Amino acid sequence: MFEEIFEEELNRESVFRDASKLSPDYVPRVLVHREDEFRQLTRIFRPVIENRMSQRVLIAGSVGVGKTVLARRFGEELETRAKGRGLNLTYLHLNCRKDKTPYSVIAKILQHYNPRWPYHGLGPEKLLDDVVSYMNAHDVYLTLTLDELDYFIQLNGPDLLYTLTRVTEESGAPNRISIIAIARDKNFLRFLDAATQSTFMHNVLMLDRYTAPQLRDILSQRVGEAFKSGTVEEDTIDLIAEIASKWGDARFALELLWRAGMIADGERKNTVIPDHVRQAKAEVHPEVKREVLRELHPHEKMVLLAIVRKFMASKRAYVSSDDVEKGYHVVCEEYHEKPRLYTQFWEYVKRIEGLGLIDLKPPKSRRMGRHFRISLQEVPVSWLEKELEKLLEGRKT
Ligand SMILES: Nc1ncnc2c1ncn2[C@@H]1O[C@H](COP(=O)(O)OP(=O)(O)OP(=O)(O)O)[C@@H](O)[C@H]1O
Ligand SMILES: [Mg+2]
Repeated sequence: MFEEIFEEELNRESVFRDASKLSPDYVPRVLVHREDEFRQLTRIFRPVIENRMSQRVLIAGSVGVGKTVLARRFGEELETRAKGRGLNLTYLHLNCRKDKTPYSVIAKILQHYNPRWPYHGLGPEKLLDDVVSYMNAHDVYLTLTLDELDYFIQLNGPDLLYTLTRVTEESGAPNRISIIAIARDKNFLRFLDAATQSTFMHNVLMLDRYTAPQLRDILSQRVGEAFKSGTVEEDTIDLIAEIASKWGDARFALELLWRAGMIADGERKNTVIPDHVRQAKAEVHPEVKREVLRELHPHEKMVLLAIVRKFMASKRAYVSSDDVEKGYHVVCEEYHEKPRLYTQFWEYVKRIEGLGLIDLKPPKSRRMGRHFRISLQEVPVSWLEKELEKLLEGRKT
């Protein structure tokens, strides 16, 4: 019986031609409305290709404006063009939310050159020395993107960036590592020393939020790649563009499009209509990225769950950190975990804030003592509770 269900489902008509073209990791050949920024990056990197210099650039902009995809697409082109000119330059894209320590960033650079490099037990400086000697010996160049770098600097301070930008200064050899930093805004630069700060300040690319017409173009282009022709109505694209333009967020727009397509398939319709978008909207929230929730440490998930539950029980705009800590203890009990001590709990709260999931405000009056006020982004709390419970599910037994 299950064989039949399987075959039946696979043979069913679908509105999609290739749904993978809607996945967040897919890098399209053409990035509509980012031609100017691509050109600017090319200009900045011209001396890297022509004169073997190194460059530093910061790409900043709010959620879903194409920072990551622009860097990746540029990296592809850079590699190919450099090779065509006899320069051995490769591109490496690291996400600092995943590689959260200097050690892990440098180890990734080493692995980029040799997956079997014996690096265990060595400190980050020694590792970096190895990288530099390797690059000098093999005459290779690297363009390294540090994506979501603001998060990394908040956690680790500026040392890594300082070291990377000055890697070879002492040896007098040319610096072979160029850096593309990506962050939500450029405020984090103030944590860097004046010299490092200014090298990035020279080249800042600010990506604006997309307008509704721009989002419409992005969506139309992707519809062509991902859907069978004639399955997505114009009105559907217009409605998605309209909804997502409130945030100017292309990721949100594409996720709505994908979900609307799934709903159409689920209803066995052969066109995606505006009503499918309305249904999809109830399941997607631009303020919270699912992958961010997934990657939280289990205790961070529990702290966030405690915050969410406090909000479900109260209509106020804020909850106090003290109440949240008590709630966290209750959640720990539910999941048979030992609650962490206050300082660790507070670290978790700050990490969750760093990821943009909550806002922290200092106490309003002295009477409140050390109790911070916590507010939540504009997300339906019941949805967030469900998501977190799903992620924590395996821990209950
Ligand atoms: N100009 C564009 N043309 C086509 N697709 C785009 C464009 N800009 C963004 N996208 C798509 O929108 C989604 C979000 O883009 P991206 O991940 O680059 O955003 P981001 O600015 O890095 O967001 P975040 O700050 O959340 O990391 C991706 O699927 C990307 O392919
Ligand atoms: Mg990104």
